[in-house]
Amino acid sequence: MIPTLTDGDVTLRAHRPEDAQGSFEQCQDPSSQRWTTVPVPYSMADARTFVEEVCPGGWADDSEWAFAIEHGGRYGGTISLRNEGSGRAEIAYGSHPAVRGTGVVERALRLLLEWGFAEKGLQTVIWYAHVGNWASRKVAWRLGFSYDGMVRRWQPQRGELRDCWVGTLLRDDPREPATTWLANPVVEGDGVRLRPFTEADVARVVEGIGDPDTQYWLAFMPRDPGEAEGRQYLETVQERLATGHTITWAFSATDDDRLLGAVGLYRFDSEPEIGYWSHPDARGRGLTTRAAGLGIRYAFETLGLDRLAGFASATNTASLKVLETNGLRRAGVLRNAARTGTGEAVDLVGYDLLAEEWAAPRR
Ligand SMILES: CC(C)(COP(=O)(O)OP(=O)(O)OC[C@H]1O[C@@H](n2cnc3c(N)ncnc32)[C@H](O)[C@@H]1OP(=O)(O)O)[C@@H](O)C(=O)NCCC(=O)NCCS
Repeated sequence: MIPTLTDGDVTLRAHRPEDAQGSFEQCQDPSSQRWTTVPVPYSMADARTFVEEVCPGGWADDSEWAFAIEHGGRYGGTISLRNEGSGRAEIAYGSHPAVRGTGVVERALRLLLEWGFAEKGLQTVIWYAHVGNWASRKVAWRLGFSYDGMVRRWQPQRGELRDCWVGTLLRDDPREPATTWLANPVVEGDGVRLRPFTEADVARVVEGIGDPDTQYWLAFMPRDPGEAEGRQYLETVQERLATGHTITWAFSATDDDRLLGAVGLYRFDSEPEIGYWSHPDARGRGLTTRAAGLGIRYAFETLGLDRLAGFASATNTASLKVLETNGLRRAGVLRNAARTGTGEAVDLVGYDLLAEEWAAPRR
């Protein structure tokens, strides 16, 4: 009664008693514990109950259609559609750590979704994930789910209610990304590296954005940041990549991976612009100028932009120099166009650079 679905490489099938070992291993993994409702600690008895009772029970009462993923002769995780009635289902997925990063889950989910739409008459599939579960959000995005927002205190987990992201896939939606998810790949040159942020950067982000100069010139930074603000900074970087809003890199020297600042490219829909801030350790070494130079090169050579703007407060000499040394041209002054962290209005100097000027031999 439980069908077997395959694309020739990945197979979805009914759970078997011998899957308990794989389920046990999967549920020891910290991300499975962090992002799902599995019992913690998770025992072999829990795993046996799951594969021998919970999964078959869902099929028996039509409440949840759960499949085991099989790949390369091994159990690769469990995925399911929870029947919400009236042509609606909630998708759920969890992979064995051995298949993470291989695309197996994505292929498995494609099989599941096509089966659900074709055989169960689904019209709408809903996806929920706890806020911060970027692996889950990226998989949903790849499958064509829209990102519909955040629902506060919605998903129960071990006695608490978690804020969660929500998205939907409709029967006729293309099964491909509906929006742009920007990348911030490693870019190196001139002794400087632009790279994605990692957890290890939190303390230096806090030092960098909390430094008095940054606090003075960048009024939008959180005031007196601590670890929570540092973590939130990293989450905002991800959110802005995921929504096509901003590419932000951390930068470091090539021979020392410690964070020295950040470079961002944003306003892709209107007037693409570069921005940056530096950790006090980076100052006065020309590093921010070179890091911004890599960002500018990426904007023209990789993204193919035809113009890039930059703005700095008229009295922020170091920031003006970063733009000027990189060949941006002064376009004019916007009077009282920004505020400092202490609330004074300051003039902004606007700069721009065109792709043909960037390409012209000059350096
Ligand atoms: C969710 C899950 C099934 C995804 O499977 P997976 O094999 O890891 O998925 P993929 O490798 O195909 O894709 C994950 C993507 O998220 C990205 N990602 C992971 N963590 C990230 C983070 N903290 N920030 C940004 N991106 C992140 C990965 O880089 C990868 O993207 P890429 O292929 O462009 O590099 C798996 O991670 C899992 O079982 N997690 C624990 C259970 C869980 O969270 N289930 C979902 C509950 S809603």
